[in-house]
Amino acid sequence: MRDKYKYIGPVYDFLSNLYSGKNIHRCKTAMLDVETVSPGDRILFAGVGHGRDAIRAAELGADVTVVDLSETMLRKFAEAQQKEAPQLSIRRIHSDIMKVEEYEQYDLVVANFFLNVFDETMMVRVLEHLIRLGKADAGVVVGDFCYPTGNLVARLFKKLYWYMAVFTFWL
Ligand SMILES: C[S@@+](CC[C@H](N)C(=O)[O-])C[C@H]1O[C@@H](n2cnc3c(N)ncnc32)[C@H](O)[C@@H]1O
Repeated sequence: MRDKYKYIGPVYDFLSNLYSGKNIHRCKTAMLDVETVSPGDRILFAGVGHGRDAIRAAELGADVTVVDLSETMLRKFAEAQQKEAPQLSIRRIHSDIMKVEEYEQYDLVVANFFLNVFDETMMVRVLEHLIRLGKADAGVVVGDFCYPTGNLVARLFKKLYWYMAVFTFWL
């Protein structure tokens, strides 16, 4: 299958930080601290990308599995882990998330900036699938863009800012 992230993948995190001034990174790691992650928790990251959030969870002692369809993104994840936490063992799965059938296995399922890559019908199917991968009392964390808020000018500015990113990815 064609790797849609072949060209943008290597600079994905750089662009994300440039675009958001690290706010995207903060959003992705906001739910990962000692109160939400306990040593030994099984955590799945869907569409992990460069995965600094997954590395954070592993540093907190979680048993982490990451899934990504893009070979480029998984390679960048491996490089980041090698650089930042080579002593940690993180399981990597190169696959379409819909083909991962480890049902009721995870304490936490994380979908950071992942669901927005699907159209609405597919997004609902993917979310249902992610919920099934979690144990009965599992948490599902979704970090993503929200609808623009504020007055008309603020909303317009935020929309334009969003379309700038969409246009770059479309290119
Ligand atoms: C917008 S990027 C977000 C990456 C990362 N979660 C982040 O926040 O930086 C979406 C990621 O999902 C992966 N992806 C897209 N469709 C997928 C699928 N069906 N199964 C697994 N991964 C997928 C892409 O390869 C890409 O790494």
